[in-house]
Amino acid sequence: MSSDQSATRRRLERMDDLVSLCARRGFIFPSSEIYGGINGFWDYGPLGAELKQNLKNLWWQRVVRERPDVEGIDSAIIAHPRTWEASGHVEHFSDPMVDCRACKKRFRADQLEDAPPCSAREGTSEHDFTEPRSFNLMLQTRIGASEDAASTAYLRAETCQPIFNDFKRVREAARQKIPFGIAQIGKAFRNEINPRNFTFRSREFEQAEMEFFVHPSEREQWFAHWQAERLAFHRELGFDDEHLRTRPHAEDELAHYARAAVDVEYLFPFGWQEIEGVHDRGDWDLSRHGEYSGKDLGITDPDTKEHYVPMVIETSVGVDRTVLALLCDAYTEEDLGDGDTRLVMRFPVALAPVQVAVLPLSKKLAEPAHVLERELRRRFNVFYDDAGNIGRRYRRQDEAGTPFCVTLDFDTAEDGKVTLRDRDSMRQERIALEGVSARLAERLAA
Ligand code: GAP
Repeated sequence: MSSDQSATRRRLERMDDLVSLCARRGFIFPSSEIYGGINGFWDYGPLGAELKQNLKNLWWQRVVRERPDVEGIDSAIIAHPRTWEASGHVEHFSDPMVDCRACKKRFRADQLEDAPPCSAREGTSEHDFTEPRSFNLMLQTRIGASEDAASTAYLRAETCQPIFNDFKRVREAARQKIPFGIAQIGKAFRNEINPRNFTFRSREFEQAEMEFFVHPSEREQWFAHWQAERLAFHRELGFDDEHLRTRPHAEDELAHYARAAVDVEYLFPFGWQEIEGVHDRGDWDLSRHGEYSGKDLGITDPDTKEHYVPMVIETSVGVDRTVLALLCDAYTEEDLGDGDTRLVMRFPVALAPVQVAVLPLSKKLAEPAHVLERELRRRFNVFYDDAGNIGRRYRRQDEAGTPFCVTLDFDTAEDGKVTLRDRDSMRQERIALEGVSARLAERLAA
């Protein structure tokens, strides 16, 4: 039966269903699981790592490689500690927190409605909260053998600060002129008070950020340009208008560095939440780093000789949050009729962790199947499986989100044909063995 025609589909409703699929199929699971896990830290298994890598590659392709006006870098995670004084993070990057005197748990003061009941007070489940206090979210470490204050360093709280540190060097090395951007993908760390919603709020996560340096007179036009670009990117990920929206920040929501901000939000099962921020950071960063380093980070226009500090338009997407949105969006339970059901991850074909599975009907067909597998591995991410009932093997690939399965059977030796099975429609067609690679390339490009 073709799933496109008659299946009843159900989207993800309970995060628990996704969390258990992710652990079982090796997308994402708690870090240090054998020790009981560590709150706010997650590991990506074979399928999750491929999915995340594909997303990062697409971002890099669209934001860096396709644009002559954006350069990519890969900076150290630890920057000179003065960086974080200049950026304002030492002073401002904090959340209000309260402690419960009874159960000793700590909560964000602005999210108390989500706090679980107190487990330590008699006759009531209400917490006994302290007054709110400010809690700095930067994770600290020490560098070198000494234990004094001078050895304190920070794991970066956002990937963009090294971009500002490197601004002059990159502009000169790449011979770029304003307007242009610098981008990087990498880990960021925040000592979140309440990590929650699976990977959504983690303590270690990845960001893909791009800082675009513009003349002050062009700020608004570039702010609008990058909002449109980023929205188009999220649509390319398959998110439809019912699950994707933008939301401008109110004045009192703005981060300490932002003059204006627009969030790109996805509708998760736990509500509308930010997956990306597009920010007008003004000249905050370059001016502050200029002041703290004593270096002039301004630009002299070669034609007008005007000397100015460029303004920055930032796009900052959470890689893990976008992977989570992709997982939520792909998750589909299908009722195929007659008591037959399947769980299928409908990832966009280009982002699927495994693109094609090679499934010989019998182990006796291993030789030609391995020849095909080797050929396909040169161009695609391939999974080979020769164990068990073919229906069950298809279902396993559906759960992994594999868009195509190629099955070799005992007729293959006679007619030189294989069965190509489509994940979404479940349609099967027989095509020539030697045409498989070209056909898949065509489908993936489409
Ligand atoms: N450089 C600007 C900046 O860092 P942000 O809004 O704090 O802005 C940008 O973060 C993106 O990073 C967010 O939209 C989100 O996707 C991701 N992000 C932030 N905190 C996160 C956390 N604790 N866990 C996972 N992703 C996070």
